[in-house]
Amino acid sequence: MDTAGKVIKCKAAVAWEPNKPVVMEEIEVAPPEAHEIRIKIVATAVCHTDLYFLHERGRAEGFPAVLGHEGAGTVESVGPGVTRFKPGDKVIPLFVSQCRECRFCLNPSTNQCDKSWSSQRPGKRYDVSSDTTSRLKCRGKTLLQYLGTSTFSEYTVVREIAVAKVHDSAPLNKVCLLGCGIATGYGAAVNTAKVQPGSTCAVFGLGAVGLAAVMGCKAAGASRIIAVDVNKDKFPKAKLFGATDFVNPKDHDKPVNQVLAEMTNGGVDFSLECVGNTGVMRSALESCIKGWGISVLTGYNDSQDMSTRSLQFLAGRTLKGSLFGGYKSVDSVPRLVNELMSGKMQLDEFVTHTLPLDRINEAFDLMINREGIRTVLNVSTL
Ligand code: APR
Ligand code: ZN
Ligand code: ZN
Repeated sequence: MDTAGKVIKCKAAVAWEPNKPVVMEEIEVAPPEAHEIRIKIVATAVCHTDLYFLHERGRAEGFPAVLGHEGAGTVESVGPGVTRFKPGDKVIPLFVSQCRECRFCLNPSTNQCDKSWSSQRPGKRYDVSSDTTSRLKCRGKTLLQYLGTSTFSEYTVVREIAVAKVHDSAPLNKVCLLGCGIATGYGAAVNTAKVQPGSTCAVFGLGAVGLAAVMGCKAAGASRIIAVDVNKDKFPKAKLFGATDFVNPKDHDKPVNQVLAEMTNGGVDFSLECVGNTGVMRSALESCIKGWGISVLTGYNDSQDMSTRSLQFLAGRTLKGSLFGGYKSVDSVPRLVNELMSGKMQLDEFVTHTLPLDRINEAFDLMINREGIRTVLNVSTL
């Protein structure tokens, strides 16, 4: 049946209110408007930021919403003015846009496109679309589109500046991971830290983001990669990705930065924070060697300040932050997919659980219970 130009009725997981399970509902997805693309989602992973939004950022004004931002699918139809995409193309929706026109897109050193959702709504704390820019509805109510993507749905509508076209034979149930966590960790190491061959690195937190950071350090030629986690069960997988040393802060009665300084003759060249904890951010910075150490934060936390002493910086350390691994999204995600397909990157190890979309609350429970790395939800068949 040709659905182009028509409202599509389909299944989606709706977050009606904060701190409650999401509910499978029949929703209505309007046709794409100018410069928008309607996507049939095939698979989506569940990321901690989805859970964070549902729990900690929960306030009525951000609901009802359809969450999800690590998805992959095919183009169902395109709105007026879209020329780079056609029905059937394999695509990954992106929570960071790349308009190619704003001064940030024109500057090669950043991926902070000014047309991303967050910069489009000054003063708004929630990473959701406005009522007028959401194309999703349920029971007469507009469903806000989380991060402009809303991948926990059989169909969604995304602006063309926030869609990457990927290789025709890309495995969608794997490349969905490149829409957030893996690109974030890998890029934090190779783009933001710019890890050097022969260097010593420390990665704090060994979830999907941290393991991808380990993979990035290895790909960049680091000779020593120290994996730090309070859960020792994470170490075997980190080893698989290239970690050479393992530190559980709980095994030591001194601060972890001191432990690392002793292991490395003064500190690491590069440290990456992949937890989202302000105390760990400080430890990661202070684990760097004076003179040239670079620390990169990837963890998301907008509820607490981080602190340290100015001496840390006077001594020559640098602190940086990395959003989506510093990748210019539309250009870079297809390249990452090609790296995966040529065997340079490994994604299988990240997927510890696979479930159908309608069991999404179990995927949230796995996260809450700290089980596994990533759950991939099968949403529809190709
Ligand atoms: N020190 C070291 N490791 C820690 C600590 C700590 N104090 N506290 C927690 N961890 C470990 C956990 O044991 C877990 O293995 O950090 C890891 C975090 O992994 P996940 O919870 O699976 O999170 P992930 O999806 O990798 O995302 C990490 O990056 O982009 C952000 O928003 C995201 O803040 C989140 C972070
Ligand atoms: Zn994410
Ligand atoms: Zn831009």
